[in-house]
Amino acid sequence: MSKFWSAIVHELTPYVPGEQPKLTNLVKLNTNENPYGPSPKVLAALEAEVADSLRLYPDPTSAKLVQAVAKFYNVPATHVFVGNGSDEVLAHTFQALLKHDQPILFPDITYSFYPVYCGLYGIEYQTIALNDEFQIDVSDYKRPNGGIIFPNPNAPTGCGLPLAEIERLLEVNTESVVVVDEAYVDFGAESVVGLVARYPNLLVTHTMSKARSLAGLRVGYAIGQPPLIEALTRVKDSFNSYPLDRFAISGATAAIEDKAYFEETCRKVVATRQALVRELQALGFFVLPSVANFIFARHGKRSGDELAASLRARNIIVRHFSKPARISDFLRITIGTDAQSQALVKALKDILIH
Ligand SMILES: Cc1ncc(COP(=O)(O)O)c(C=O)c1O
Repeated sequence: MSKFWSAIVHELTPYVPGEQPKLTNLVKLNTNENPYGPSPKVLAALEAEVADSLRLYPDPTSAKLVQAVAKFYNVPATHVFVGNGSDEVLAHTFQALLKHDQPILFPDITYSFYPVYCGLYGIEYQTIALNDEFQIDVSDYKRPNGGIIFPNPNAPTGCGLPLAEIERLLEVNTESVVVVDEAYVDFGAESVVGLVARYPNLLVTHTMSKARSLAGLRVGYAIGQPPLIEALTRVKDSFNSYPLDRFAISGATAAIEDKAYFEETCRKVVATRQALVRELQALGFFVLPSVANFIFARHGKRSGDELAASLRARNIIVRHFSKPARISDFLRITIGTDAQSQALVKALKDILIH
């Protein structure tokens, strides 16, 4: 607390990101990063940027990256907005498109940054409970609202919503923006990018942090019709003209262009996930059906708290949320390499024997 703070600072409840430990010998399965490095073409593109041009500002429109994203999704460049991580894209979305007279809607169990943005921008919100199977039921969102946002697949559950369900919502919810946060979509869920041309109120956000292994570069993007993109651009140009530096623009462009590497990486993560789910079920875990690069699982007999602490003592870190009570016994486990999965299963066997 300080008398120098603006009034709003006193009211903020900031987001707490997953731990980035300094120790190097940990099996790090807590922040949904990709266990495989980025495409070698990304590294070559970054090296090429280390040049005299660093004294110059980057392109404020990131045109090269915008073009590459547009080409990848087969949409016009006017449908693409890029930002410094999808967190920044989401922040601009809350301010530019979700602040209206009515409260916005999002699931009670979801990405915990959403309520933080509401606090920052003074946006009213209502949470909608996931159903008994921890799924989003779109019928529950058919009520007056200032906007709707949910991840697909949802975080931290990993559960996916079929495209037809999202379209069912878009058909009736025509008066406010529907944001589908597709941070994890490439690991097995159905993308709604193809619906953007038909629904002027649909905005789809993506990140390069997960399927393209670039969490350290900070690049995200949104796809929507030009009026939505213009709103985001107006906020961006009132905040920071250069959110993406020269490395981010070049590295992210190379990553988007290397489709084969991206597909192979996703395939490996999905195969490891399927094997890990079977192993955990054999150890007595209940695992929610995941189409993400993480799983959400609880053990029939051991508390989430205890399991997370026991894993930590064995140098394995996973994410545990103590609130709300409904998920306090779950662990959110990022899919790592096969070797990391084996280390996890070995540690769990050891813990469960005692
Ligand atoms: C659902 C969801 N959306 C968005 C993000 C933000 O991703 P980034 O800011 O790294 O692009 C995350 C990060 O974990 C996430 O879980």
